[in-house]
Amino acid sequence: MPATIIVGGQWGDEGKAKVVDYLMPKHDVVVRFQGGANAGHTVVTDEGKYAFHQIPSGLLYPHVQAVLGNGMVVDPVAFLVELEELMSHGVNVEGRILISSSAHIVMQPHKVLDNLYEVDRNKEPIGSTGKGIGPAYCNKHSRKGLRMGVFRLPREEIFELVRSRVEDCNRLLEAYNAPPLSAEQIATDFVNMKDIFAPFVVDTQPMLQEMRLEGRRFMLEGAQGALLDIDHGTYPYVTSSSCTIGGALTGSGLNIKDVERVIGIFKAYTTRVGNGPFPTELKDDIGEDLREKGREYGTTTGRPRRCGWFDVVAARYSARLNGLDDIALTKLDVISGFDTVKICTHYELDGKRVDRFPLEASMLEACTPIYEELSGWELDPAYSGSYEELPKKARTYVEYIENEVGVKVGFISHGPERKSTIVREKA
Ligand code: IMP
Repeated sequence: MPATIIVGGQWGDEGKAKVVDYLMPKHDVVVRFQGGANAGHTVVTDEGKYAFHQIPSGLLYPHVQAVLGNGMVVDPVAFLVELEELMSHGVNVEGRILISSSAHIVMQPHKVLDNLYEVDRNKEPIGSTGKGIGPAYCNKHSRKGLRMGVFRLPREEIFELVRSRVEDCNRLLEAYNAPPLSAEQIATDFVNMKDIFAPFVVDTQPMLQEMRLEGRRFMLEGAQGALLDIDHGTYPYVTSSSCTIGGALTGSGLNIKDVERVIGIFKAYTTRVGNGPFPTELKDDIGEDLREKGREYGTTTGRPRRCGWFDVVAARYSARLNGLDDIALTKLDVISGFDTVKICTHYELDGKRVDRFPLEASMLEACTPIYEELSGWELDPAYSGSYEELPKKARTYVEYIENEVGVKVGFISHGPERKSTIVREKA
């Protein structure tokens, strides 16, 4: 069975790209299956540091075919900027990136609406990245979206379709007392992009099915994380896509029988960008320490990430949602150097013990985390040993997490470089 799925286990930014990149040599095709330019994925190699937003981060190996899957919402202008950036870093992209004709398009009015919706939420904004993701998925689901396949149409049809979609958005802008955007100008811009985008656009679902028959091996790369999933996350403080295993299938066109392995990526602590409940958040010096040591600032927006202890209640929920085979635990180096470290084992709500992750944001907000305190350890930044050679207390921490979550920690990352990775089993 040819597919490995990589999903975020927490609120995003777990270090998925590093794991995708690490495992990519054993795969032929990488498919990003949801989200859009709201994501920020960083890969560090001997040649340098590469930032990905919409283009799958498995691209760096020359044999790899990269696909922006049908579940994504693609910002074409941002895509070209990202492509240029990769090319300027010496990455050969020629013929190696395809975009699903069914992927929806993020247009300028979606970004304007995203910001208007945030202001309209008054004191409870979600903390959206403002990349137009929510409004683009709204249009998709109300069947008024614009898909990448549009670039294959004759110019007059592109113009008409884009114009009518922008006018539709303009009616919403008017309802929010915002000035309309020029539908003619945007439609003309899209017509002018036809020749650039047409070669990238393919009906990727049947193409991937054929590749499967040819025996190709797939990496299905998720963005964001389970707790930001539109269905399963801390709604409404979520993104608008399916970041969990279901999204990997609907967002690629592969099916459950193709899946060999599901790997959930978890930071050895927890971070969250934007608003919403976060029971183990540390608003003290330790939180500040984690932020500085872990360089916890958003790749896409530069916003400081909120930091806190590892949360077993949330992790167990996310592991079960995704049917995880393995956990990749990242940034173990960042959580070293403390006298003691804490792991949240359960919550308390109204004096009662809570072991089940509450899905009502207000209820989760009211939960108090209850911790197990473990001894800390020191990890040499240049550590290059095996799992068995890690400090005993670090191993105790890792094994505590795997026992409580109920999933083997198969990979440990203790630095951004490819070499700072420990594989315990079955790599
Ligand atoms: P949106 O998807 O840009 O609308 O943002 C919705 C929520 O998801 C906000 O809290 C964002 O901070 C969060 N979010 C979106 N993309 C990412 C990501 O790649 N990493 C972490 N958080 C994200």
